[in-house]
Amino acid sequence: MYTIPTHIKTDSTEFLENKKHYNDILKKHREIMHRIMGGGPAQAIEKHRSRGKLLARERIDLLIDPGTPFLELSTLAAYGQYADSFPAAGIITGIGVIHGQETVIIANDATVKGGTYVKETIRKHIRAQEVAMQNDLPCIYMVDSGGVFLPEQAEVFPDRDDFGRIFFNQARLSAQSCPQIALVMGSCTAGGAYIPAMSDETIIVKNQGTIFIGGPPLVKAATGEIVSPEDLGGAEVHTTKSGVADHFAENDQHAISICRGIFESIQPAEKQSLKVKPVEEPLYDPMELPGILQAGKKKQTDPYEIIARLADGSWFHEFKARYATTLVTGFARIMGYPVGIIANNGVLFAESSLKGTHFIQLCTFRKIPILFLQNITGFMVGKSYENAGLARDGAKLVHAVANASVPKITIITGGSYGAGNYAMAGRAFDPHFLFMWPGARISVMGGQQAANVLAQVKINQLEARGLKPDPKEIESMKVDILQKYETESSAYYSSSRLWDDGIIEPMQTRQVVALAIATSLNKKYGPPRSGVYRM
Ligand code: COA
Repeated sequence: MYTIPTHIKTDSTEFLENKKHYNDILKKHREIMHRIMGGGPAQAIEKHRSRGKLLARERIDLLIDPGTPFLELSTLAAYGQYADSFPAAGIITGIGVIHGQETVIIANDATVKGGTYVKETIRKHIRAQEVAMQNDLPCIYMVDSGGVFLPEQAEVFPDRDDFGRIFFNQARLSAQSCPQIALVMGSCTAGGAYIPAMSDETIIVKNQGTIFIGGPPLVKAATGEIVSPEDLGGAEVHTTKSGVADHFAENDQHAISICRGIFESIQPAEKQSLKVKPVEEPLYDPMELPGILQAGKKKQTDPYEIIARLADGSWFHEFKARYATTLVTGFARIMGYPVGIIANNGVLFAESSLKGTHFIQLCTFRKIPILFLQNITGFMVGKSYENAGLARDGAKLVHAVANASVPKITIITGGSYGAGNYAMAGRAFDPHFLFMWPGARISVMGGQQAANVLAQVKINQLEARGLKPDPKEIESMKVDILQKYETESSAYYSSSRLWDDGIIEPMQTRQVVALAIATSLNKKYGPPRSGVYRM
């Protein structure tokens, strides 16, 4: 272990320029987060409160152990879509601690279009359930929802990962012995009725919670029967007649205290042990990170400077420091937890793939979680590299990442492009958690490269037909593609579509990684495994 030396001069022009640029990004980020975390429109919030109900975030605050953090996921789901009428996609999800037990919490925000589900709401709900499955966690549903957002039915109803998947996941979680508790604090209609009905225990709030497969308007239309919501499926009915709910609560606060009471009987699963040490602050201040990041520039950010501001004591036990230097690998601690860090320091070559593969094996055999710090343009291209078998060695790394039997936590700190995204535990490789920094970008290739590739394809097509390409047309085509890539590669575009678990500030990364590792300890890490490596 050595302390990473820093080459950063905090009074240099470069540092100060970077800092200003990134602080502008952070300022915009905080404004967006603040707005989105405010929930639905003012009238909807007022109406909600006038009914004596707590807001979704207040419910969560009251549910978790006082003073403990809530690791919120995908706050910016649906951001920039639906004319921004679905803040946070109308649902709050994340991991909180209840009686010392990390728990997935899924809470509808009824101030956002009655807590109804658009595509991103469903993806967020399902993603939270996946987190529970991957980490063997209990799952709490704070239900207050009008079910499917009906105008979007074709986008939310029929497919595999649509609304029905929520109930499929509930059955699977139950079979996996993950306790599930539902708190019915509002409407719970149609398919949504299965959320409490499929939970282990269900609490329902008096004169507020309702559970029915078909609501009063549907009943009237179908059978002519006229019935009030309360008589059809209110708290009184479900705790005395139907037995669909188990506990009768006077109000939100009471429901939450019953839920906390239930947790007293939930036994913790056998945990993974890790050699955890006392927390040590990094030697270099994480607040310096904005000045280090070369966001929007062609210049590579030095990964050692990032690691120096994430690792306890800025300690790093580097592996193969002198070999394949475009991939940095080594062991460190974050908030006391051991991690194997894999960080990009340029394009990936065949030998960097082999180094990464070897290092992943070390982590899986030693049962140490892996932190991927992604800032990658892709693999090196060119005749000599391809002829030497770049694809074969890159495939080894992709294999190792996919089959790693320890938790993977991915942070996209800069760019995430092409096959580099796969090799560095992108979303398709099931990392336990994937977060982006606000200045990060993600796309199949950079906008400029894509514009050049497509322009070249067009020129070839025209020339093959004996036509002369019009330079103006080609230029305008390039501009369109650049603009499209500019929008679609932003961290906000990604987070809106649930390609990640959220955008976090660089300075929060230590805490987020520590919470992610603490969460992962609820499930024992499996034995090392691997497929066939092409030699
Ligand atoms: N689809 C689309 N929009 C819906 C909706 C649904 N299922 N349910 C509610 N909304 C919208 C309303 O149109 C309203 O939109 P607006 O703010 O743009 O005017 C907003 O959500 C709030 O609804 P409102 O009825 O004013 O709020 P409420 O708190 O009094 O009642 C519900 C909320 C969910 C109980 C009630 O709207 C309801 O019963 N909805 C229908 C539920 C249903 O039958 N779902 C079946 C889906 S499978």
